[in-house]
This record gives sequence, C-alpha cells and structure tokens, in this order.
Amino acid sequence: MNIDQPLTLLGGITPQDFMRDYWQRKPLLIRQAIPGFKPSLSIANIKQLVKREEVESRLIWQDENGWNMKTGPLDRLPAASKPNWSVLAQSVDLHDDATAALIRQFRFISDARLDDAMISIATDGGGVGPHFDSYDVFLLQAHGQRRWRISQQEDLTLEPGLPLKILKNFKSEQEFLLEPGDMLYLPPHAAHDGVAVGTCMTISIGFRAPTEATLACGMLEAANDQILANLGDTGGLYASPVIPGPRLSETYNDAGIAATNQPAALPENLIKATVKAIKKVNFDKALAARFLGQWLTDIPCNAYFEPGDENIDLSQTPPVSGKLVLDRCTKLMYRGKQLYINGEVASVPASSRMRLLADNRELQCAEGLAAKLKKKELRALTDWLHEGWLHYVQD
Ligand code: SIN
Ligand code: CO
Repeated sequence: MNIDQPLTLLGGITPQDFMRDYWQRKPLLIRQAIPGFKPSLSIANIKQLVKREEVESRLIWQDENGWNMKTGPLDRLPAASKPNWSVLAQSVDLHDDATAALIRQFRFISDARLDDAMISIATDGGGVGPHFDSYDVFLLQAHGQRRWRISQQEDLTLEPGLPLKILKNFKSEQEFLLEPGDMLYLPPHAAHDGVAVGTCMTISIGFRAPTEATLACGMLEAANDQILANLGDTGGLYASPVIPGPRLSETYNDAGIAATNQPAALPENLIKATVKAIKKVNFDKALAARFLGQWLTDIPCNAYFEPGDENIDLSQTPPVSGKLVLDRCTKLMYRGKQLYINGEVASVPASSRMRLLADNRELQCAEGLAAKLKKKELRALTDWLHEGWLHYVQD
C-alpha cells in the first residue's frame, strides 16, 4: 500500500496524515469512505452466525427494567418488528472471506494492532448504550442508518450494577447520522452512543493494544520457555528453534555454610543465588520479538482451517501460474530473519519472498516460484498448504 497516497477510505487524506493527526488522538467522520458499500453478509446471515457455538455473540436490549444482555449462542432472537434490540457477532473476519478482505484495507496499521471485525444488527432504537472503548475503532455503516452521538468528555464513570458498560453522565458534543458507506473513527476512551434509525447494520473494525502487564508477563513466559528449552529438558514441548540463551544448569552449592540455629529462616545465600540466576537471562529485544511473534500470530480458538490437499508438493512440482494465498485465519509476521506463523516460530527464515508473502498475504507463482524460493521454503509452503494455512488459487 502506498501510504502517501490519499485514500477514499480515509476521506481523501493519506494514511501517513491520518496516523499523524487522528490515530489515537481525535475522532474523524468520513462520508462515503466506501462508496456504494454493500455488506457481504445479510441480516439473515448474521442471525444465522450468532446461533453458532464458535461465534462469540451478544444480544442487548432495553425494556421497562433498563439494559439487558445475553451471551450467545443465540438460537432465538426478538422479532424483527420489535424495536430497541441489537445483536453483535465478534470476529466475523474469521468466518467470512469478504469481511477478512474488508479489514485488510486497514493494513496501513500494523497487523500487530488489528484485532477483528464485529458486526452488529439492530432494530429501530437499538444499540449498546453510551459507553467508551479502550481501543481504536472504525465504525462502518453497512446497512440502514445509525445516529452517532460522541463526546470527548473526561468523566468516564460507569453506571454501577448493569450487565454492560453504560456511561453515567454521557454529554453528547457532536451528532452524525451515518448512511451506508459512511464511517466514523474513534480513538480510545472517546464516549459514544450509536442508535439505529430503522433496521441497521454496523461493522466495527477494532484494534487491540496490550497493557504493560500483558507484555511483561508474556516476556516472562518466553524466558521460561527459553530456559527449559536450553536445558533440553522439555519432553519435546519446545521443539521449534529457540533463541540461544543461558544454560542455567548449575546446582545451588552452599559448601562451607555455617550451621544454623534458625532452621526455618530463608537462607540469604539462596536468595542471592536466585537473583544471580535470573540476571543470567537476557531480557532483550530478541526475547521480546520471540514472545510477540508467537503471541501476535496465535490463532483464536474459534479459527477453523479446512484441511488442505495432501497431494500437493511444491518442492517437486512448483506451479508456474496462479498464486498462493494465506487463509483468512492465518497470521504471518516477521522480524529480521525470524518468521512467525499461527503461534509458531516457522522452520524457515524470513527471506525477502517470505516477507512479501506476509505483507501481501499472497505470492504470485507466475515468475516461477522454483527459481526464486529455496527447497526449504517450498517445503514449508507445502506443509502450510497441507495444514490449510495457505491455499493455491488458479488464475
Ligand atoms: C454497535 O455496533 O452497536 C457497537 C459499536 C460500538 O459502539 O463500539
Ligand atoms: Co463502542
């Protein structure tokens, strides 16, 4: 993607300008971000989707008792003629190719930040109430109309005792009526309330941002894995290549220690030895990259891969036409020579072709894959085809 080229999706500004002026900073209303937008899934499709066990969903409605929420699977929904209810399906991009393609239009933002596409349908008056989200979101109007009221208010106190997050003192500052194809970007913590005007469908393209606690705990887990792998003591648990690290195999030695008359007291020497042992671990960028590469490419438990064709072997018969395309659920990222796929460190290095596959999510075969890729790379691609992580598409 040319990040210096104005995008209709961003209302005629460039991704560079959007990231500098709006991202994480202030809301942006984009009229006709996707002109003539038609959702790939109908309202009936969404109603089917929320019945499925593997689709995370919520039904939210308002009645004389106030706000109500029920989590899916949702076999029965209120009648379409009944106002004031909304049903939301999370991570629809895992289940629908066109929705996955839609969120890839936002890849001027790193895959590390892209979370999922949530689709909501609502009857007249329906919505999830005034609230704020901790993450950035693009709210794309897919069908019908929705009235958004937004506020950059500081007071984010929530109503206590409700089944969902509702702001206690929402004070609207701006109001917009969105039509199909219009889109509203909201930074984290912007207060908002979207109410359906007639029957409507909204697609929320959401972004994730880890807390420091998540990053630190992940790094500690990666260090744990590294220590065990370097001891060679893992019962085959950590078979993937590990980054070289210290072999913490020395046993605590307290030869010459004095006799104690306080046997229940923790030995000071043992405490010192523990601090010394952890200092041998390099909490460096290589370890951080290994943790992030595996964590960010980890596939959600509700992702499903169709088994691939076992008969294909690219290293024997590389195709000369068509293309290799990553499955919509596959996550492939890299740093330097390290390649990470679906929660694993790949067995092949991140060569320029593999990085191209990760960035473009496809690789053209026309130029002759065999001439460009090493045997080991063709082997890995063949394995991914068998896993269903990658697909061969003929021209
Ligand atoms: C919705 O689609 O109803 C909710 C989107 C949001 O407010 O985050
Ligand atoms: Co929201």
